[in-house]
Amino acid sequence: MSTAKKEYKRVTVKSLVDMKKQGEKISMLTAYDYSMAKIVDAANVDVILVGDSASNVMAGHETTLPITLDQMIYHASSVIRAVNRALVVVDLPFGSYQSDPKEALRSAIRIMKESGAHAVKVEGGEEIKESVRRILNAGIPVMGHLGLTPQSIYKFGTYTVRAKESQEAKKLLDDAKMLEKLGCFGIVLEKIPAALTKKVSESITIPTIGIGGGRYADGQVLVIHDLLGMTHEFNPRFLRRYMHLFEDMSNAISQYVADVKSKDFPSEEEQY
Ligand code: KIV
Repeated sequence: MSTAKKEYKRVTVKSLVDMKKQGEKISMLTAYDYSMAKIVDAANVDVILVGDSASNVMAGHETTLPITLDQMIYHASSVIRAVNRALVVVDLPFGSYQSDPKEALRSAIRIMKESGAHAVKVEGGEEIKESVRRILNAGIPVMGHLGLTPQSIYKFGTYTVRAKESQEAKKLLDDAKMLEKLGCFGIVLEKIPAALTKKVSESITIPTIGIGGGRYADGQVLVIHDLLGMTHEFNPRFLRRYMHLFEDMSNAISQYVADVKSKDFPSEEEQY
């Protein structure tokens, strides 16, 4: 039997389920604009999430709650124009799907039609079941999101690890099974114990994607600004920084300011 890794020219929701079957881990990262999405896609990241974390890292809000459907569509359209390979998943923002399944479907349709995205992501389990069902019935792929769900931050009160108690852990497992049964193609598990991620991942056939969920998830996701060290004040245990761009960019920009002030820039060779 060949052990060669399958190349995916274009990642689809089916590719992700195949990756899980083959034991190949799935890579997922956020992007919110054209230039960043081009780099992320060229690096062969499997899934690009246009996350509502744009509310934090792009707009400077404290939570993900303020971002609007129109703003998510703007970010998603910019990303879609850059991408050749990755599957692009877009968060349905807070308030666009919780109140009524028909509104949820209208919101999902707007994202798919106006941005060209490939799938949507929603936060929650049993409480949003009818909305998920309706979106799926329209042929729109849905990714779930359980554990720490930032759109519910005011209900939780803190960003600490979720589902440490058996009752919450049981509900999370039931919700994951329910989302699989409805037809979701994957589930993000945010900030839960690694042992629970293992249990969930072994109990369902669709992939789990962890962020602070430990090594047993079928894939991992990070916010690109965190991975690159652009957000240097955010230091959760689960974050691995691959660069320290806040410092590097600050140094480069300070050097530019110094060069302008000292009349070093532009030089003879840098003018017409
Ligand atoms: O909005 C986002 O970036 C997310 C990830 C944290 C999974 O939902």
